[in-house]
Amino acid sequence: MTTVGELLDEGARRLPRRDGLPDPRREARWLLARAAGVTEGWLLLNDDVVLPEETAARYDDWLARRTAGEPAHHLTGSCSFWGRDFGVSPAVLVPRPETELVVAAALELPLPEAARVLDVGTGSGCLAVTLAAERPGLAVDAVDRSLAALEVARRNASRHGVRVGFACSDLGWCLAGGYGLVVANLPYIPSGRLGALPLEVRYDPALALDGGGDGLDLVRALLGDLWRLLAPGGSAVLELGEDQADAVSTIAGAVGLATVRRVRDLSGCERVVVLQRR
Ligand SMILES: C[S@@+](CC[C@H](N)C(=O)[O-])C[C@H]1O[C@@H](n2cnc3c(N)ncnc32)[C@H](O)[C@@H]1O
Repeated sequence: MTTVGELLDEGARRLPRRDGLPDPRREARWLLARAAGVTEGWLLLNDDVVLPEETAARYDDWLARRTAGEPAHHLTGSCSFWGRDFGVSPAVLVPRPETELVVAAALELPLPEAARVLDVGTGSGCLAVTLAAERPGLAVDAVDRSLAALEVARRNASRHGVRVGFACSDLGWCLAGGYGLVVANLPYIPSGRLGALPLEVRYDPALALDGGGDGLDLVRALLGDLWRLLAPGGSAVLELGEDQADAVSTIAGAVGLATVRRVRDLSGCERVVVLQRR
């Protein structure tokens, strides 16, 4: 017989404060709300309510796993992105809030209603599915090298009732060109920095993180093929890591792509570049 207040106190006491888990009490409330199937607001208003034993048991299990470093979204199996719930598993990167900047930049482009769109390295499918849902006229394709990730992305497309053409491919090599828009959030962490990432991030698949020596191996390879993938006048919106925008603009310029915009995230990092085939 445990009340909401007691469970929240227990969570705040057991969860360690660390990089990736900065606010144990906030985290406890997030976990308990999902374990109980209620909103966090409801918890705040119902401190004295006794929750069922099975809810307390699920919460207890999640506190133990969260303490060991498992990401919160792996426990619940879903993550919110651009206002929609996406299923996630250890096979995919948990969608990050900053990736919503890619969606925002893409939706601001003057794309023809029925333009062809390609998402390279789709993971959970968060970019492809969101664009297909926001602009139902678009013809959206998405590729990933991981079959397990594609399975998660397919389920997310069907969950949100959108049609996306999925294919297993190394970047866009197996596709013909003609895309009006290419979006990509490829791995961009320099290999040498992987070991220093917060515990939670190390649960993401290495294939989703490791960008090689300077972090740009895959982005550079995609840039080398973008001119072919894009239709004349087509655009690309790419998510990048810290201090990569200058290098990417330089490489893009050398292959006939103009940098038309660079978007900073809340921490001031130039997180997204928008390129256009001249
Ligand atoms: C950083 S994750 C991004 C996932 C998703 N687009 C997002 O924004 O959350 C990068 C994705 O690229 C995929 N990937 C890595 N190398 C690839 C390659 N050579 N060709 C295609 N996809 C690749 C990974 O499997 C992973 O799903």
